[in-house]
Amino acid sequence: MTKRRILVTGAASGIGAATARRLAANARLALIDRNAEGQSALASALPNAADHLTFGFDVSDEHAWAKAARRIGDAWGGLDGVVANAGIAAAAPIADLSFAEWRRVMSVNLDGVFLTLHHGFGLIADRGAMVVVGSVAGLKAEPGVAAYAASKAAALQLAKVAAKEGAPRGVRVNAIAPGGVETPIWRGIDFFDAVVAEKGEQAAFDSIAAMATPLKHMAKPEEIAAMIAYLLSDEARSITGAVMVIDGGYSV
Ligand code: NAI
Repeated sequence: MTKRRILVTGAASGIGAATARRLAANARLALIDRNAEGQSALASALPNAADHLTFGFDVSDEHAWAKAARRIGDAWGGLDGVVANAGIAAAAPIADLSFAEWRRVMSVNLDGVFLTLHHGFGLIADRGAMVVVGSVAGLKAEPGVAAYAASKAAALQLAKVAAKEGAPRGVRVNAIAPGGVETPIWRGIDFFDAVVAEKGEQAAFDSIAAMATPLKHMAKPEEIAAMIAYLLSDEARSITGAVMVIDGGYSV
């Protein structure tokens, strides 16, 4: 059977890396991350390393996308799956949030998803599937996360519009809305770093889970990768335009 061709952004760490590891044995992957070094290290340790393509660029860079899309098209003729996963976090109340910081978050979490879907549509085969990694922050408001939450709410809506645009060709587009996931994205957020300094990283994750989720469980990146793999698969052939929440009950 021919292997599916799947593009994953933000593939060097966390959810993107777990997704790459999950899919690598049975797919050819186009892996995109601005952390070129981290991504090469990950890619060389994947099963069938020689089958995969790697790109080191910022997902908000329009010109880099055009070059990468050409290279993927030349190499593989198209794609069967796209995972718009790259994203950054930021935390500050609106009154303290600089416009530059607002723009930085929007450029990665929203412009980056737009460019991924834009080029994804250019390459995706009929009956392909795309997944946008949003966040439950795009559904449930909390103080102090304006840029992140607004970018994720917009990304969820972008995925729904894309689902309607893709449907005539059988292209499915879904979003996932994770709650807390144990990945490095939390590093640099003040309250998280403060608990890490006192008790270590696992204890910080555990205390957020205990505080915020009925299940008292923070997801591992592999759980999110499993949901992404499902949405990309034919088993999900009736699902499009959905937002799959995976948050330990936080948003209930
Ligand atoms: P992570 O920080 O472990 O990985 C993010 C990856 O994206 C990194 O390899 C980073 O280099 C790459 N990246 C960041 N900005 C980029 C850019 N402009 N261009 C190219 N690559 C870029 O984070 P994690 O947790 O794996 O995040 C993946 C996605 O999941 C993000 O969209 C995030 O918002 C979302 N998410 C994460 C949650 C969590 O608690 N970890 C919860 C809900 C959503």
